[in-house]
Amino acid sequence: MESWDTARRLAQLSTTDKKRLLAQLLRDKARAQAAGQREPGSRAYVEDAVLEERIQPAGPASHVAAPKSVFLTGATGFLGAHLLDDLCRCTDATIHCLVRARNLDDAWQRLQANFSRYFAHTLNARRVLPVLGDLAQPRLGLAADTFARLALDTDVIFHNGAHLHHLAPYTQLKGANVSSTVAILELATTARPKWIHYVSTLVAAVDRDPDGWLLEQFPRCDQPELASGYAQSKWVSEKLLAQASRRGIGVTIFRPGLISGRSDSGIWPAENDHVLRVLKGCLQMGYAPDSDILFDMAPVDFISAAIVRIALNEASGGYVFNLSNPRAARWSNLLHWVQDCGYPVQVLPEVAWREQHLKRIDSNNALFPVLPLYLGGHTTDQHAALLTKLSKVRRDHTTRMLERLQMDFPAIDQPLWRRYMRFFHDCGFLNTPALATA
Ligand SMILES: NC(=O)c1ccc[n+]([C@@H]2O[C@H](COP(=O)([O-])OP(=O)(O)OC[C@H]3O[C@@H](n4cnc5c(N)ncnc54)[C@H](OP(=O)(O)O)[C@@H]3O)[C@@H](O)[C@H]2O)c1
Repeated sequence: MESWDTARRLAQLSTTDKKRLLAQLLRDKARAQAAGQREPGSRAYVEDAVLEERIQPAGPASHVAAPKSVFLTGATGFLGAHLLDDLCRCTDATIHCLVRARNLDDAWQRLQANFSRYFAHTLNARRVLPVLGDLAQPRLGLAADTFARLALDTDVIFHNGAHLHHLAPYTQLKGANVSSTVAILELATTARPKWIHYVSTLVAAVDRDPDGWLLEQFPRCDQPELASGYAQSKWVSEKLLAQASRRGIGVTIFRPGLISGRSDSGIWPAENDHVLRVLKGCLQMGYAPDSDILFDMAPVDFISAAIVRIALNEASGGYVFNLSNPRAARWSNLLHWVQDCGYPVQVLPEVAWREQHLKRIDSNNALFPVLPLYLGGHTTDQHAALLTKLSKVRRDHTTRMLERLQMDFPAIDQPLWRRYMRFFHDCGFLNTPALATA
């Protein structure tokens, strides 16, 4: 029916319009081909993973357990708001937050507005100080005098800000995700040594033991097979930091898996989340693929508290922490819990789901923007490989540190998922049906 309709409409076009349409289609095809040749196959990111000789420690690295001055990036984001709260609660430090804004008033408004999405209490304006900057700019976009002042005053750096996009090419993410790390290293090595706590991601981990488990160590491999530009950009940062650590600069790396909403209120910025986009798309279709894939996921409040408390503990300095949740859930569990909340969704073999339903969705479906990751073919295989690799993750350092801190990963279970579902319903992310059983 659809192709008849399209043919009828094409026949009605004037010759000029037909030519214009054809030219446009050819341009799009050429652009897609050029992007295909440049991007997934491109190894440019590997060349960026070499730390310039000029980056050298400003003195011996020493871990700081009670910082008086912290520099934090990404505080206007999901995890950043929580890191800011935990840093306020666990230290007496002044926290300088790098914010993209027109002026300091605007920056403060952005910090507060984001913070109030998650917390009922307000930010302490005497301890939380915005600084204007941009991760993608040289020297983090900081004014020269601000950079010099921060270089003198800062005790520790939490580099958490990044551009998260699972389809964007490396070149598009390099500024915010890689150049920023070089600039952070410049800051950490100017005037006096500062410890860097870097928020990475499990998808950037590549080194495995002989049994295929992802290791909990600084990256070693020089030629990784990383398909997504995002994973590539985070791996390059890790490589730069690994070299910095070998030169004597204080570095600790934290690798969360997927970060889910708050464990108490369920608040989760659903609009940007990949897993939720897929889940919502399936609910809109009424069909979901049958899969037993594990989603290594942990609530944001836990991840944040773990990062801050581990970072402040002197036994953590110089390690990598795979923040992999041993009590995570499988896609099949999530579907079951969603059905239990009254959402009708039929589970089909993956091929049938893709061929009969996914291929027919349009831009009204939440899955539409990430369609290439699920439609089949090379990109889909690479994405599946990325998810599958997260099923075998070593977490020995993390387990030891959490035991020491008397912390434990919360289970991703049905009661927690119900809280999430209630939040999705209340905020309008999911609007049918009423949660009669929740
Ligand atoms: N979310 C996850 O599931 C997940 C999983 C594993 C690891 N991580 C890592 O956790 C960290 C935080 O992620 P998130 O989920 O909190 O992301 P988010 O909500 O998108 O926050 C990203 C933060 O980075 C800032 N940022 C991005 N580009 C910037 C630039 N050019 N200049 C200045 N600031 C910039 C954003 O500022 P604006 O507000 O100005 O955009 C925002 O504050 C990232 O390093 C990410 O790689 C996240």
